[in-house]
Amino acid sequence: MSASATTGLHTGQPRSRVDGHAKVTGAAKYAAEFTASGLLHGVVVSSPIAKGRITKLDITAAMAVPGVVEVFTHQNRMRTAWRNAKFQDEVAPPGAPFRALYDDKIVYSGQPIALVVAETFELARYVATLVHAEYDIEAPSTDLRAVRGSAYVPSKKRSGINPPPKPRGDAPGVLADSQIRVDAEYYQPAEYHNPMEPHASTVIWEGGGKITVHDKTQGVGNTQAYITNVFGLKKDDVHVVAPYMGGGFGSGLRPQYQLYLTVLATLQLERSVRVVLTRDQMFTFGHRPETIQTVSFSARQDGTVTAIRHEAIAETSTFEDYQEVVVNWTGLTTSCENVELDYKLVQLDRYTPADMRAPGAPTGQFAFESALDEMSYKLGIDPIELRLRNYAETDENQGLPHTSKALRDAYRLGAEKFGWAGRNPQPRSTCEGHELVGWGTATGAWDAQMQKTSASATLTPDGKLTVATASADIGTGTYTILTQLAADALGLSMEAVTTKLGDTDLPFSPLEGGSWTAASAGSAVQAACCKVRSALLGFAQEMPSSPFKDVTLDQVDFKEGRLVLRNNPGIGVAYGDIMQASGLEQIHMEESAARDPAVQKTHASYTHSAVFAEVRVDEELGTVRVTRIVNAICAGRILNPKTARSQIIGGVVFGIGMALHEEALDDSKIGRFMNHNFAEYHIPVNADIQDIEVIFVDEPDDMTSPIGVKGLGEIGICGTAAAIANAVYHATGRRVRDLPITIDKLL
Ligand code: MOS
Repeated sequence: MSASATTGLHTGQPRSRVDGHAKVTGAAKYAAEFTASGLLHGVVVSSPIAKGRITKLDITAAMAVPGVVEVFTHQNRMRTAWRNAKFQDEVAPPGAPFRALYDDKIVYSGQPIALVVAETFELARYVATLVHAEYDIEAPSTDLRAVRGSAYVPSKKRSGINPPPKPRGDAPGVLADSQIRVDAEYYQPAEYHNPMEPHASTVIWEGGGKITVHDKTQGVGNTQAYITNVFGLKKDDVHVVAPYMGGGFGSGLRPQYQLYLTVLATLQLERSVRVVLTRDQMFTFGHRPETIQTVSFSARQDGTVTAIRHEAIAETSTFEDYQEVVVNWTGLTTSCENVELDYKLVQLDRYTPADMRAPGAPTGQFAFESALDEMSYKLGIDPIELRLRNYAETDENQGLPHTSKALRDAYRLGAEKFGWAGRNPQPRSTCEGHELVGWGTATGAWDAQMQKTSASATLTPDGKLTVATASADIGTGTYTILTQLAADALGLSMEAVTTKLGDTDLPFSPLEGGSWTAASAGSAVQAACCKVRSALLGFAQEMPSSPFKDVTLDQVDFKEGRLVLRNNPGIGVAYGDIMQASGLEQIHMEESAARDPAVQKTHASYTHSAVFAEVRVDEELGTVRVTRIVNAICAGRILNPKTARSQIIGGVVFGIGMALHEEALDDSKIGRFMNHNFAEYHIPVNADIQDIEVIFVDEPDDMTSPIGVKGLGEIGICGTAAAIANAVYHATGRRVRDLPITIDKLL
């Protein structure tokens, strides 16, 4: 069935979330809300030191309190898997994954050293303060700038490493001979995901070695595989159920240590246990890595970019080589014959960084899109015009054509909506009241991916349809778009369709990440529904004196719960009647969908955006307000403009946070992020957000996925911080290359 086959009443239309009612009434259950009789509560004790050894861990006082069931430490925990490979989840980078309560070694500040389990949460929280630890402290290394000289290129042989493309042309030679150059260094601090829902696991002891696991996760399959590998359990004994998630942004891709601790306590005590991390403890695992970037590039007077060198040095932990894709975007969005992209890592005494909303893209784009903006002033060429003159028709990194790329339209439509033509190119040229007004722009890009996913579709004689896949809805609207696709595939109302997600008993789905779920789960659901359509026609043909006897699928429609002849819609039969005639209680079909492997080899597939930002800067106070953003998005087919718009707004807000607020501040003397709370780690609040306009550019794409979808969400943050930084320059004439752009940097 082609994409157009299900463009119908619902798909492509703005629809409210089908799970909205459940969410606002509290009926939607999150990991820490599941319960069981006799549920125990665990509280994690964290290390205040970043490096060294535990020399003494005294739990006597804690264990003496009535109501305390156990205090787990590295000294009394059960045995778990020994090999590193057993701890490596679906998206683990190369190395030795962190193991909580493994031994006496401390490798980062905030590392869990004990889990107190008690009859009540309050008791566990109190008793956690009675666990007495002494340490042999070593000096930690967490100052990226101080140790950048130790940067190394991670081995490309291991999977999970994303090396930059090979150099093309002669960038160093051309740069050396160039008169018109921009050479600059950019800084991205560590950032934390800060989802509203903290990480939590509730593990129910079902008896006989079986457990039901409710985990905050972006993929129940990843959680299940981690548990079976680490604890040596059978798949059938580990049922993972996680129907809702209060925001992930990547923090729920890898199993976090509270999952390990909760399962461990449950298995050892043979009782149900819940562990919820505190907001402070949400700053004790993966984060967007602190990154230093250097950009050198040259251009001719007419704006043609002649050579680019872009290097990133990012932190990783001492135990894993985490690598994002930071510099590749530069080679993707700008056409250039001489390009050298480089990416190195530095080991710090911190937890391994983690994917965080469009990992690497907004970081790399902040640097290069800022550098392009600098060049536009040097040359006196409008920033959009400069980008158009260097428009990359193909993916020059891989030497492949795009499945679709409507970025030119995004520049045009975004500029029109924003009023870009009215921009005075001169910095500091616009003042309103006591504020300088600035306009800036930047380009964003992100992967358009599809991953192999399975789904089922079950039709019952009452005309109700249930579609299901193990995938998550991390808040993006997955329940809603799958319901729309299924309803249209079988000509039903959305109310007649139930979508089930987040359960390992459902057909396989990979993690919900990388903005690939709409394309992947959506195609799988559609494929399963198409099998139901074929089955319905087949059974209808067997009915006595059937009008469908010699009819093929493309001669029928599935409308309002009936199979009808396309050229004579008056002739038809209700699904219930077809099933009754064949004595069927249900029609249940399962199908998988994956990207065409041929397209994978011959084409590149990305989403793009053109971001336009207006800022107002009070120079006396150093304050910046983002008063207007227009984000023109090229993401193929949009299944639901309402939830899609919400995704982009969320991404833009994240981008405003990246530009102006977010920064995990490290005290390198003790190797600890100090602002581990919402009072001191700033994220945008309502007062920081003003006008955000989203445009979806028409971009037909029949290669990325069978349903024409390229994916959304992460593209919303891409390029946003760069556009804001460029607007700040236009307003003030000051180029801030260190994020975030805080008051002190403008005074
Ligand atoms: Mo995303 S950072 O793949 O959840």
